[in-house]
Amino acid sequence: MSIDVQGKVAIVTGGSRGIGQAIATALAQGGAKVVIASRKMPGLEESKAEIEAAVPGAEIHPIACHTGADDAVQAMVAEAVEHFGQVDVLVNNAATNPYFGPMMNVEWGAWQKTFEVNVEGYFRCARTVAKHLLDRKAPGAIVNVTSVLGQMAAPLQGVYGMTKAAVISMTQTLAAELGPRGIRSNAIAPGLVKTKFAQALVGNPEISQMVLDRTTVKRLGEPEDIAGTALFLASDASSYMNGQVLVVDGGWTST
Ligand SMILES: NC(=O)c1ccc[n+]([C@@H]2O[C@H](COP(=O)([O-])OP(=O)(O)OC[C@H]3O[C@@H](n4cnc5c(N)ncnc54)[C@H](OP(=O)(O)O)[C@@H]3O)[C@@H](O)[C@H]2O)c1
Repeated sequence: MSIDVQGKVAIVTGGSRGIGQAIATALAQGGAKVVIASRKMPGLEESKAEIEAAVPGAEIHPIACHTGADDAVQAMVAEAVEHFGQVDVLVNNAATNPYFGPMMNVEWGAWQKTFEVNVEGYFRCARTVAKHLLDRKAPGAIVNVTSVLGQMAAPLQGVYGMTKAAVISMTQTLAAELGPRGIRSNAIAPGLVKTKFAQALVGNPEISQMVLDRTTVKRLGEPEDIAGTALFLASDASSYMNGQVLVVDGGWTST
């Protein structure tokens, strides 16, 4: 069986760089038409050009959207449907982590921002795409990018860790409630991946060495390391998987 998404339309939030861009590239390679969404159009245009250069014939449509804002999410999904005719796959990937420090010291503004994007944003996108799929009586796949920090203590990143744990719960409940109607929900929990998002950790020799020491493949992750798993979960090759979390961390949390 080949792992592909031929004929499907996918939305990848946070598709302007990092893991989201790598996932959008893999989905395009797998035959999907892909909407990439993030706040800033220049980054999206750059990402579109890079994906189209890497995947000849790729159909990529960029849409500026702040996923924490309900009207922006509604408009983004409506534009995706208008542009490509339908949406079959949602990859919830856009997230934020504005506060690094002990949970005891977090300010409510940073707390609210983290939950607004990482939890409310994921749910807004999932609900809007699921409604579209239910209206069409079409099957679909939701892939939520969470983190290994949603499954264990996350010192100095506790609020972020809580939002990622919430995403796992969201994935399981969406799977239970929508699975009987043909919409599967699964999650990916990456370890430490070299992106702008993780720069503070990757660039901190003590933290990156600590992760490397426990990472049994003996390297930090690249965005492309996450993309194959997303393609698999979006494709019919995973049609008997629902409500699961696939850990992609080079073995870090297995030791
Ligand atoms: N890197 C890691 O080590 C790691 C580990 C575990 C999990 N993850 C997860 O992987 C996902 C992707 O992270 P990454 O490392 O690839 O980060 P990244 O390279 O910094 O990319 C983040 C993406 O999200 C977009 N974004 C941020 N806030 C947004 C908002 N409010 N609305 C819409 N788009 C927004 C950004 O574009 P704009 O600036 O244009 O909005 C960008 O496209 C996140 O869910 C993260 O939690 C990352």
